[in-house]
Amino acid sequence: MEGVEVTECTRCADLVESRSRIVNGDGPEDADVLFVGEAPGASEDEEGVPFVGRSGDVLDDELRDAGLPRADVRITNCVRCRPPENRDPSREELANCRPYLEREIELVDPDVIVTLGKVPGEHLLERDIAVTSEAGNVERVELGGEPREVLLCLHPAATLYDASQRETFTETIEKAATIAGESSGQSQLGDY
Ligand code: URA
Repeated sequence: MEGVEVTECTRCADLVESRSRIVNGDGPEDADVLFVGEAPGASEDEEGVPFVGRSGDVLDDELRDAGLPRADVRITNCVRCRPPENRDPSREELANCRPYLEREIELVDPDVIVTLGKVPGEHLLERDIAVTSEAGNVERVELGGEPREVLLCLHPAATLYDASQRETFTETIEKAATIAGESSGQSQLGDY
């Protein structure tokens, strides 16, 4: 995607050391739904694609079940390089990568942005969040030059550590599919 693929960046000294490559967003540039994760993990760093490890498998399964195939959505991360030992990205790293994310949001112009986990939720909402109790909530936030709907969601990995979180995750992905369907008019077809 022209204008949004980062091919060179040396803004974060630690991440330049820890990464194998820059992991850009994946999926159609006109997607209705944009998922935003935290940062690439080991599998993503190896393959150069976001959410391809175990978390990615959970996300793919839930997307398929919600009738929103992965091929139809765009998936990106707050930070495009794998942090050392998979630590959380620092405030400075998040800030360094923010212009790339803002540009991606502006170009994709999604109907809804779904934050996967606490880090992207807090980064985009610019406040502390309690992601387990706030998952499923939608807030309007100025992003990529205009007010956007942000749907807070658990990180898919949370469902691997605690199976009881799976239902909340499923419901939130279903909500994303509903919002996308409503804005493209599909839900009206279902009324006939
Ligand atoms: N977790 C994330 O937050 N992002 C990925 O790309 C993979 C796992």
